[in-house]
Amino acid sequence: MGTGPEFNPKLLGMICNWCCYGGADLCGVSRLQYPPHIRLIRVMCSARVDLAHIFRAFSNGVDGVFIGGCHINDCHYITNGNYNALGMVKICKKLLEHIGINPERLRLEWVSAGEGIRFANIMNEYAPRMKKLGPLGKSEGMDKDQLKFKIEAVTRLIPYIKLVERERLRAPLKLRATANPEEAHNKFFGSDELNRLFNETIVDKLAISQIMLLLQEKSLSTGEISGKLGLSPSEIARHMSSSSRHGLVRYDESRKCFALA
Ligand code: FES
Repeated sequence: MGTGPEFNPKLLGMICNWCCYGGADLCGVSRLQYPPHIRLIRVMCSARVDLAHIFRAFSNGVDGVFIGGCHINDCHYITNGNYNALGMVKICKKLLEHIGINPERLRLEWVSAGEGIRFANIMNEYAPRMKKLGPLGKSEGMDKDQLKFKIEAVTRLIPYIKLVERERLRAPLKLRATANPEEAHNKFFGSDELNRLFNETIVDKLAISQIMLLLQEKSLSTGEISGKLGLSPSEIARHMSSSSRHGLVRYDESRKCFALA
């Protein structure tokens, strides 16, 4: 019996013009080999990559997103954009994990223009890893509709998430002046305090975004929403109460279900 076609991941790389793109170019002219599954897009700085680009790539069937920038403190812009990219990727990984997508599918690396070998080594590790992980969604136990639904719920919330990220979830500037800024950032983004803030500012909003998407299709009872989202009826009741206060939903007494207002 046949084993079906071999899976080759579709990978998208967004890499900064000044360093990582130079590294990729050097890798090419040095004739270093790496798997051909990645398509590269040149951006002027890793900070140019937006949450919306990442989720759009995933919603279009990309199995892995790679972001490449200049080494920490080597960004060519005075704002040190790669710190912004680092913070955005950390938050994006939390979002992916929260909606059940393996966060390893998103990868951020620093590569200088002289590091062709490093670029090839990263690709030779990343592409086989994504191949082993399997197709997006399928290996996470989601069918196409579930995957689309979850990505859509996050996508709708991106303007809000970007605002919260800038105001509440951004690493303090003083971390950039520490002896090991990257480690200090990793510690900050892995801290209980950051996780608490993430839960407080984003998780509930994401649940409400999913509820709004469900109600767009048809009116549903608390129990039906709870079953579809895997959240407890009391959590759904809390979300419905706040959504109703904000005029987003209304309760249809006769049919005992919620509908969009
Ligand atoms: Fe390369 Fe900013 S210019 S990361």
